[in-house]
Amino acid sequence: MTKRPEDLRSHQWYGGEGLRAFSHRARSRQLGLNPEEHLGKPVIAILNTWSGINPCHMHLRERAEQVARGVWQAGGYPVEFPVSTLSETFCKPTPMLYRNLLAMETEEILRSYPVDGAVLMGGCDKTTPGLLMGAASADLPAIFVPAGPMLRGHWRGETLGSGTDMWRYWDERRAGTIGAEEWDELEAGLARSPGTCMTMGTASTMTSAAEALGLTLPGASSIPAVDSAHNRMAAASGRRAVELVWADLTPSRILDSRAYADAAATVMALGGSTNALIHLIAMAGRSQVPLNLADFDRIARTTPVLADIRPGGRFLMEDFYYAGGLRALLARLRDRLHTDRITVTGRTFGEDLAGAIVHDDNVIRRLDSPLSTEGGVAVLRGNLAPDGAVIKYVAAAPELLRHTGPAVVFHGYRDLQDRINDPGLAVTEDSVLVLAGAGPKGGPGMPEYGMLPIPDRLLKRGVRDMVRVSDARMSGTSYGACVLHVAPEAHVGGPLALVRDGDPITLDVADRTLRLEVPEEELARRRAEWTPPEPVFERGYGALYYEHVTQADRGCDFEFLARPGKNPEPYAG
Ligand code: FES
Repeated sequence: MTKRPEDLRSHQWYGGEGLRAFSHRARSRQLGLNPEEHLGKPVIAILNTWSGINPCHMHLRERAEQVARGVWQAGGYPVEFPVSTLSETFCKPTPMLYRNLLAMETEEILRSYPVDGAVLMGGCDKTTPGLLMGAASADLPAIFVPAGPMLRGHWRGETLGSGTDMWRYWDERRAGTIGAEEWDELEAGLARSPGTCMTMGTASTMTSAAEALGLTLPGASSIPAVDSAHNRMAAASGRRAVELVWADLTPSRILDSRAYADAAATVMALGGSTNALIHLIAMAGRSQVPLNLADFDRIARTTPVLADIRPGGRFLMEDFYYAGGLRALLARLRDRLHTDRITVTGRTFGEDLAGAIVHDDNVIRRLDSPLSTEGGVAVLRGNLAPDGAVIKYVAAAPELLRHTGPAVVFHGYRDLQDRINDPGLAVTEDSVLVLAGAGPKGGPGMPEYGMLPIPDRLLKRGVRDMVRVSDARMSGTSYGACVLHVAPEAHVGGPLALVRDGDPITLDVADRTLRLEVPEEELARRRAEWTPPEPVFERGYGALYYEHVTQADRGCDFEFLARPGKNPEPYAG
C-alpha cells in the first residue's frame, strides 16, 4: 500500500475535528453506518446506468450488489450512484446526443462527492464511452464492469442476432416474403435475456475496446450477462477497485497512446462497429492522446479480422465467449499489440493474456485464415469528405466497393421517409442514396440513419445493397455499402450540402476516395448560394450541445470538455 487512510481523498470530508467533518459523519450515521464501518476506508462510487427502461442493463441493479459485496470484502465502502441510462432503443432522437451529458455527469459526480475510486457499470452503446470519458477526465482510480451480451436469439430453429437479423427480416417483410405471423414470432424471439446486443454491434465493440484499453478485469467484456461468471466478475471488480485506490492506479497511468492503438487494433480484429472510431477519438482526447482517422486506417490495413461474428460474420457473442472470448483473440494478435503497458490489474497487458487459448477456430479465426486480411473499416477522403468519412466494407456487397452512380438526395430523415418509396422517385440499383443533414448538429446528435432503406420496389426486384452516403452514423449491427460520418456535415456547410439529384458520385474503397464528380466552378457557385440552416435548439442542454459539439472526425466531444487543463478540487473542510 502506498497510501494511508488519512491520505484518502474522502478523508477531506470525513476526517478532522471541524464542524463540516462532524456534519458529514453525523449524516453517515443517519445513513445507518457506524463510524468503524466506513471511516478510513476507500469510498468506491458505483456508477450504475441501470433503469427500468433499459433492457440491456436490467440486471445491473442486482450486479451492483455483487460489486458492493466485493468492495466490502476488500475493506472499502461502496456507494451506488444512479447515472443516465442512455437506452439505445428508447432514447430519442439518439442517445449520442446525450453521451457527453453522461460523461459530464460521471466526471462531476466523482469530483463533487467524497469518492476515492469508481466502478463504472455500463455497456449499451453510448454508456461505455460516456462513463470512460468522464472517468478519464476525473482521473480517479476506476474500473469498468461491462453489462455483458444477451443470449442468442431464436426463431423456428434459426439463430437470431440483435439488430442484424431485424434489419434483414425487415427487408424480407417489405419484400413480401415474411408474413404477419412470422414477424410476430420474430419480435418475441429476438431478445431473450438481459444484456447488450449479442452481435458485434457498438456495445460489444466498445466493451471489448474498454478491455483492450486495460480498464476491465481480463475477459470481462465477453461474459454473457446472465452467466454466473458475470456475478463473480462484478464482485472481483469491486475488490479490485479498492486495491486501485491504495495503489493510486489512475486512468491516466493506463490510457497512453499504446493503449489506444491496441484498442483500435482490437476493434479492427473484431470487425467492430464504425461508431468506435468516433468514441475512441473522443476518449483519447480526454486522455490528451493524439488519435485520428488516419491512425485507424493505418491500423486497419495491418490488422486481420479474426472474429467471425455478425454482422460481418456468422456467429454471436455467446459463441465468442465459448470460443475463448476476447482474451483468446488478443492472444492471437499478441505480436501486433503493446504487451508491456500496465492495465487495471496492475500487471502488464501481456501478463493479462497469459494462458488464453482459442477453443473454436471457426469463431476466432487463425491468423492464416482470417475473415479478411485487413480490418473491416476504411477511411475515405475526397472533395465530398474533406475531413474524412468511414465505411465498414466487410459488411458491404463487394461489387459496390468501386462504384459510380447518380445521386438521389434526401435532406433530413423525414424527407427520406416521405420520399424513399415514392413511385415517382428516379432511383435504380445503380443510384447513390444520399442523406444530408443527419450529422452531429443537423441530426441532431448524428443519429444512426446511415443504413438508408433500399426502396421497396428495388427490394422486390431482389436488390439487397446499394451505395449510400450520409453524415449520419450507422448501428454497429447494420450492414451494407454505407459511407458514414462524412465531415464536415451538411448542416455546417460541408460539401454534402451541395449535392444535387443526378450528380455522379464515385466510391473507391481500395483508393480510399469519395468524390463528387461536379466541376469545382459549379460547386463554388452552389456554395455561394448556400444559406446556413437555423439552429436546431433554442435553449437548454440541446443549445449547449449544438454550440459546442465537434465534428465526427474529432469525436463529437464538446470542445470545452476535450481541452487540456485541470479544475480545482472542491473544498470540503
Ligand atoms: Fe442496448 Fe444494443 S440496444 S446494446
